[in-house]
Amino acid sequence: MNPLYCYESLHHNYPKQIKDLKNLNIQEMEKLVSSWFNNKTLPQSYIFPPETRPGNHVIPRCNTIPVVDLSKALAYERTAVVQQILEASHEFGFFQVINHGVSENLVNDTMNVFKEFFELPAEDKAGIYSEDLKRPCRLYTSSPNFNSEKVHLWRDSLRHPCHPLKECIKVWPPKPTRYREIVAAYSIEAKKLGLRILELLSEGLGLGSGFFGNKLSESTVLSLNHYPPCPDPSLTLGVSKHCDPNLLTILLQGDVYGLQVLKDGEWIGVEPLHNAFVVNIGHQLEIISNNKLKSAEHRAVTNSKVARTTAAFFISPSDDCIIEPAKSLIGTDESPVYRAFEFKEFLLNYIYMEGNFEKSVEPFKLHG
Ligand code: OGA
Ligand code: NI
Repeated sequence: MNPLYCYESLHHNYPKQIKDLKNLNIQEMEKLVSSWFNNKTLPQSYIFPPETRPGNHVIPRCNTIPVVDLSKALAYERTAVVQQILEASHEFGFFQVINHGVSENLVNDTMNVFKEFFELPAEDKAGIYSEDLKRPCRLYTSSPNFNSEKVHLWRDSLRHPCHPLKECIKVWPPKPTRYREIVAAYSIEAKKLGLRILELLSEGLGLGSGFFGNKLSESTVLSLNHYPPCPDPSLTLGVSKHCDPNLLTILLQGDVYGLQVLKDGEWIGVEPLHNAFVVNIGHQLEIISNNKLKSAEHRAVTNSKVARTTAAFFISPSDDCIIEPAKSLIGTDESPVYRAFEFKEFLLNYIYMEGNFEKSVEPFKLHG
C-alpha cells in the first residue's frame, strides 16, 4: 500500500521520510485552483480558445430538462413515469428526479461534508493530493492530464471508488471526521436510486426486470467537483464538453447553477432544483439501447460570485463486462449499431481520445 494512504493514522510519530512527502505534496497542492484563485485576473493557461469558451451569451435556464416525480412510479402512474423517463433519455439524455426517496437530511449532510472537505487546511488534504493516476482516491486539479493539457480547467476534484464499500472506505479521506460515515450511507442510497432508474428504463425498453443489475452496474465511483469563484467565467470552463463514458450518472449539483447540456447544437442550462438529482445517460446505455437512449454532451461553466460544489456518482459496468446492443432489441427491422466489446476497451479508448464524442464511439461501431 502506498505509504501516503496510512500516514494519517500515524499521528505525529510518522517517520521523517513521510513527513517530507507530505511537505512535497503541500508544494504541489499550490496548483489547486482553491489555493490561489483570489488573484484578480484569469491566468493565460485557463483561457479557452474562442470556439470553445462560453462567452457572454445568455443561455436559457428554463425548465427544458424534464423533471420526473419518482414517487409516481410507486403507484398507478408507473407506466406514465416509465414513458417520461424514456422520452427524456431519448431526446435530451438528461432529466432531473424529485421525490426520489433519498432522505433530504442525508443529502444535506453529504453536500456539507463535501464542501467541508474542500475547505480543509492544506495539511489535512496533503495525504489525498496526488498526481499519480493509479491512486484510487485522490485530490487533483483540472483534468488527469494537468501537465500535458493545452488549457487548464477551473476546478479541483476528489475522486474515489465506492465498491466494494468495505475495502474502498479505507482509502477515503480521513477528514472531515464524518466523511466516511456520511458518504458510505450516501453511496448506498445513490446506488439504490440508480438501480431504480435503470429498472424503469429497462421496463421502458422491454428488456425485462433486473437487466442492468450485477456486472453491468457493478462499479461505482464518486467524483466531486469544486469550482471556486472565477474572475472571468466567459473565458474558461469548469469541465469542458464531454459525455460520461459509464452507464448512468446521478449528479448532485447543489443549489448553484453551472451545468449545461448540448441539445440540437445549442447549450441549455440545467436549473438547480431543491432536493433533486440530475440523471444522465452514459455512453454504455446508449450502446446497449442501440441508440434508443442518448448520451448527451455537457459541460460546466463557472461563476464569479460563489463556489460551486457538485458530486457525480458514476455507475459503470465492471472492467471485464461485455457490452453490446441488447439482443432482444435487435430484430428483422433493426440491426445492431455497435459490436460487442469489453468495457475496459472502451475506457482505454475514451481516455486516449480525451472524451471526443465521435472518436470515443467510432471503433465500436459496425458499418454498413
Ligand atoms: C462530470 C460532470 C458537471 C457538473 O463530473 O462528469 O459533468 O455540473 N459534472 O459538475
Ligand atoms: Ni459529466
